[in-house]
This record gives sequence, C-alpha cells and structure tokens, in this order.
Amino acid sequence: MLKDKVVVVTGAGSGIGRAAAMMFAGDGAKVALIDRNEDAARAVSEEIGQAGGESLPLGCDVSKEAEVEKTIDAVIQEWGRIDGAFNNAGIELHSKSVPDLTADEWRKVIDVNLTGIFLCMKFEIAAMRGTGGGAIVNTASAGAIATQPNMAEYASSKAGILGLTRAGAAEFGETKVRVNAVLPGLILTPMTEDRLFSDPNFAAAVDPLLRRHSIGRFGKPADVAEAVRWLLSDHAGFINGVSLPVDGGFTAG
Ligand SMILES: NC(=O)c1ccc[n+]([C@@H]2O[C@H](COP(=O)([O-])OP(=O)(O)OC[C@H]3O[C@@H](n4cnc5c(N)ncnc54)[C@H](O)[C@@H]3O)[C@@H](O)[C@H]2O)c1
Repeated sequence: MLKDKVVVVTGAGSGIGRAAAMMFAGDGAKVALIDRNEDAARAVSEEIGQAGGESLPLGCDVSKEAEVEKTIDAVIQEWGRIDGAFNNAGIELHSKSVPDLTADEWRKVIDVNLTGIFLCMKFEIAAMRGTGGGAIVNTASAGAIATQPNMAEYASSKAGILGLTRAGAAEFGETKVRVNAVLPGLILTPMTEDRLFSDPNFAAAVDPLLRRHSIGRFGKPADVAEAVRWLLSDHAGFINGVSLPVDGGFTAG
C-alpha cells in the first residue's frame, strides 16, 4: 500500500510506532524512525534492514521545536520529500486526580502529546506543500472521548489532537495534505503492559476494561498499524479530518 513512499513515524522505537514502521517498510516505503530513544530507533532500523527494507533512525524529542525542525530537514536531505507522517509519540503518567496533579506534570504530558504533534505537523505540512501533498495520521486515544477517572492530563492532550486534526483537514485539503487521527483502545505495548502487570491499582480495572472492548480482547500494535497504513495510502484519498476509533468497540458502548 505504501510502496516507494517516504513515511515519517514518531515514537518508532517501541509499541505501536515500531509495528507501524516495520509494516510500512515491509510495503516498500522508506521510513524515517523518529524517537527520543535513539538506540531504540536504531534497533528497529537494524531489524528493517535485515528484512530488506530501507529506514533512517533519528533521535528527536518531539516537544522541542528546534529538534523537530532539524529532524524533518534531515529526512528531506536524505529522500527529498515526505509523503506520509504517522505522528504517534506519546507518554502517560501514572494516574492522579486533578487536585493532586502538579502543573509541571500537566505541562509535561501536554508538551509531548499535543505540542509534539503540533510541531511535527508544522514542519511536515511545510515540506509536503512543497512537493505536491501528503497524508498525516495523528495518534489520539479512545480516552479522548471515553475517558476514565484520574487521567485528566492524558485525556485533555488526546482530545486536543482531535481538534488539531480537524483544523489541519479544514485548512490544508486544498493543498493536497490530508490529516486524520486514530483513537486506539487498550493496545498491549510496553506503555500499557507495564501498568497492567505491575501497578496494583490498575489491576482492579483490567476486567471491566476488557469487557468494554466488546470484541473480547485488548488490541495488538498491528491492529492500529493496519488502520494507519490505509489512512496514509492513496486508497484513503477522499478521507480527511476523521477520528477513527481502533478500539474493539470500546467507544461504542
Ligand atoms: N498502548 C495503548 O493502549 C494506547 C492507547 C491509546 C493511545 N495510545 C497512544 O499510542 C502512542 C504510542 O503508544 P505505545 O503504547 O506504543 O507506547 P510505547 O511507550 O510503547 O512507545 C512510545 C514511544 O514514543 C517515544 N517517545 C515518548 N516521548 C517522546 C518524545 N518526547 N519524543 C520522541 N519520542 C518519544 C518513546 O521513546 C517510545 O519509543 C502514544 O501516543 C499513546 O498515547 C496508546
């Protein structure tokens, strides 16, 4: 689906981003692997290389404007254009209620999850407009529309991504840049497995959470990557501004 396209993936060193990068490279895309954990991005690049794919690992903190600008420039230097971008890097804190949350903790999550996507879009769209267009997919969360207690900073950052996605779709369609979002349910990755298996407060929530995924299981990184691959491809050429749940029914109930 993505053969010969140049695709940027943020948070490519782990979980959903890693699965997406490997899938896109398997399609024959050239994939820029962006992660603040440069060693993890390099390890993914090696795996892609061993499977015969092409990739470029780049260390970058997506919440830092100068780093994002330099990183997108590096992709353009290497391959001359960007056709697709999966803006996926994100973090979560271990749950706190609003009165206990510090302003610094709030800002940390908003900086990475929301400002990070704004900064990536800023430089990606500038590059795409110069080369005839492209497609962007942002990772929000089912938590943006069906939130749980003790996740105000995370839910707010992810709800902000939905606005940013629609704003991008409304503004850049004419210049042939499409912007969509995916809203994953609970996907088994290092981010969530850490909590599921080590946080006793979270353990009590596992069964009710699983029941809300009416399809009867939690998600796999590849479930999200499949949807993103399609949204980035020319098959989704008339899809612009959608927020697509990839959540086994979580937000339907
Ligand atoms: N796993 C889930 O259940 C789930 C559900 C809904 C949404 N999401 C979202 O999906 C995305 C990926 O999550 P995951 O579960 O694969 O997590 P993960 O922790 O396995 O991977 C996240 C990657 O992002 C990188 N990263 C974090 N902050 C960064 C920064 N400032 N700059 C650059 N890279 C950074 C990390 O180094 C890591 O490699 C996140 O945005 C997350 O909020 C995940």
